[in-house]
Amino acid sequence: MRKALKGNTKVEEKDINKLPYLNNIIKETLRLHPTGPLLVPRLCRETVELGGYTVPAGSRVVVNAWAIMRDARWWEDPEKFMPERFEKLKDLDSGGAAAFEYIPFGGGRRICPGMAFAYASMEYWLAVLLFHFDWELPERRRPEELDVEEACGITLTRKNDLLLVATSIAA
Ligand code: HEM
Repeated sequence: MRKALKGNTKVEEKDINKLPYLNNIIKETLRLHPTGPLLVPRLCRETVELGGYTVPAGSRVVVNAWAIMRDARWWEDPEKFMPERFEKLKDLDSGGAAAFEYIPFGGGRRICPGMAFAYASMEYWLAVLLFHFDWELPERRRPEELDVEEACGITLTRKNDLLLVATSIAA
């Protein structure tokens, strides 16, 4: 990242285009740890046959996005954190009908209207934090030892606080 932004003293919005891998990292993080793991409940308006089941009109339907995005039928090595998988899957978050295997922002008519704003904010602030600081786990623990355990809830949060040591690169 610092190579791509060589000569910069700070990160500006226009620099984000030079950092395509950052977007892959955010996508992969949201695949494994979606903020809304069960989306927003739907109400079935008509009785439908779906995947061998009858869903009666009036049923409340809860979509388990968390499980869909870890399903080995659609994801190679689903438990592995592998941002580069999104190199091949660039249009997956367009919200289109063909992309229901990747739904951290939901899908269809009720897809999150803040998606573009959310990506822009996450990319920018992550870039700023990575540009100005080196990040390590405390007590010289290795990156693979990062605790990513989740707490159960309507929105997905960390079970334990994230503790990191930031070193300013200017220091
Ligand atoms: C990482 C950031 C975000 C994530 C992961 C996220 C995720 C979601 C999800 C999963 C839904 C439910 C979609 C569905 O059931 O199909 C949703 C709905 C919604 N989101 Fe977001 N969201 C994010 C940021 C934002 C931001 C920044 C805004 C506004 C500025 C926003 C506004 C909304 C609104 C208004 C809805 C309800 C849409 C509706 O029901 O018609 N979200 N979001």
